[in-house]
Amino acid sequence: MSFSIKNICCIGAGFVGGPTMALMAKKCSDLIFNVVDINKQRIDAWNNKDLSKLPIFEPGLEEIIEKTRNKNLFFSSDIECAIASADLIFISVNTPTKTKGLGAGKSSDLKWVEASARQVAKFAKGHTIVVEKSTLPVRTAEVIESILNSTDSNLIRDKKSFSVLSNPEFLAEGTAINDLENPDRVLIGGEDKQAMHLLSNIYRNWVPENKILFTNIWSSELAKLTSNAFLAQRISSINSISAICEVTGADIREVSRAIGLDTRIGSKFLDSGPGFGGSCFKKDILNLVYLAEFFGLEEVAKFWEEVVNINLWHQKRIAKIVVEKLFGTISQKKIIILGFAFKANTNDTRESAAIRICKDLIDEGAELIIHDPKVSPIQIEADLQIKPYITYNEKSKSFLNNNAGGWRYSKDLDIFDDSHAILVLTEWEEYKNIDWDDAAKKMASPAWIFDSRSIINLDLVKKSGINLWRLGDGSI
Ligand code: NAD
Ligand code: UGA
Repeated sequence: MSFSIKNICCIGAGFVGGPTMALMAKKCSDLIFNVVDINKQRIDAWNNKDLSKLPIFEPGLEEIIEKTRNKNLFFSSDIECAIASADLIFISVNTPTKTKGLGAGKSSDLKWVEASARQVAKFAKGHTIVVEKSTLPVRTAEVIESILNSTDSNLIRDKKSFSVLSNPEFLAEGTAINDLENPDRVLIGGEDKQAMHLLSNIYRNWVPENKILFTNIWSSELAKLTSNAFLAQRISSINSISAICEVTGADIREVSRAIGLDTRIGSKFLDSGPGFGGSCFKKDILNLVYLAEFFGLEEVAKFWEEVVNINLWHQKRIAKIVVEKLFGTISQKKIIILGFAFKANTNDTRESAAIRICKDLIDEGAELIIHDPKVSPIQIEADLQIKPYITYNEKSKSFLNNNAGGWRYSKDLDIFDDSHAILVLTEWEEYKNIDWDDAAKKMASPAWIFDSRSIINLDLVKKSGINLWRLGDGSI
């Protein structure tokens, strides 16, 4: 009997698992998608009737969930049942950097992947295609295969068999739905040609044939790490040049434009900013560094590690500039932080530059008011590991605090009174339309705007009388 795919399970209902399965469910109405997770709260949030309470904010996601949820897309905690009924399983669990033990600080912690493989080995029935969707170190497929094919008595009794494929995800947060709908490429790595063909058939429902790429499994795993390393390296490159611009009178926006017009370089991913964040760039580069070190390629390891090192240097550089411009001290000065997410259009704060920069400013004694349209104060507290001020006096617009240094959250933008500076860290659309004349009237004097995202209108700020510092702009 020929094997076909009707029922799909995704282990991990996170930033990748949720949107990816939702989009697949939309495009493949004849297939059933069960997304499972050990985090019950997350599953409950995916099942929330109020679509604004989904665990992830991603433009376009709510509409797709509305159309597919409980039709051919199901979110559940019943992992056993979802695995048992699946013909194909995506493993889409977290793979953070290890914090202790061998390879700590660099290699990926594969305990969630291993646990998933064990669950699959235990509950799967008949033949199952197992797909690595998570970003994994090269040769992880071997580990998964050996767990799945361990000579467990159940395996023989239940006549289980497995094909392992690699199918890394290239979506970026904030544009996930568009990236999934119009991918630059879909990469499928493996040895089992039939399994690769069946997986590619799912994508053929909406992805043109010439965008589906087949490789061996190790190339596929390595291509994912390399892709992120190249992207992050571009940002570290342009950010390092922004520092040169500031001292030479050049402007990084003009430099970016000029180099981006060279078709060999290309114009994308050349915006200087407060330093790359997100859950993956740092983790995946460090993974590559670990791999190179493991194989004795010290120079290769050092080359890539510098991309991460300079990113941290750059984030610290921004906090230092704020202190310098505010006469060398920010103790008890009120500073407004615009944006906490690692980029616009997401509520994700993992590795956000805002975390490092806010911590440094609080250490210097600043009193921060943090605004972000999508990030909750609970998340900010978890990231900063500092409790917010609860003694902010709305009437006197001041923190009733003896020890300098702290933060509070604001959900609206009416927060400029008596502030010494505004620091733009995330490029949210709403920050582009702030009335600077009005802000100038409310702020302390002299007042500063520090724009790390180049989104503030230079002329309007100049007119308002507020001082402006722009990242990489040596011309003002
Ligand atoms: P995430 O932390 O948002 O989600 C992972 C989910 O897996 C969590 O909800 C967790 O509870 C669940 N999980 C862990 N172990 C489990 C188990 N044994 N059984 C069931 N559920 C389990 O992570 P993410 O951002 O979705 O990333 C997942 C993977 O995809 C990572 O390897 C990441 O590098 C990669 N990736 C992420 C992105 C992105 O934009 N976030 C893009 C491409 C690739
Ligand atoms: C990145 C990759 O772009 C995805 O292809 C990949 O799938 C994903 O990592 C992953 O493996 O997790 P993501 O981190 O979601 O996606 O977002 P990006 O758009 O790449 O932005 C990453 C960081 O770089 C953000 O902090 C962003 O503000 C910054 N950035 C990006 C810049 O500073 N300048 C730019 O020109 C572009």
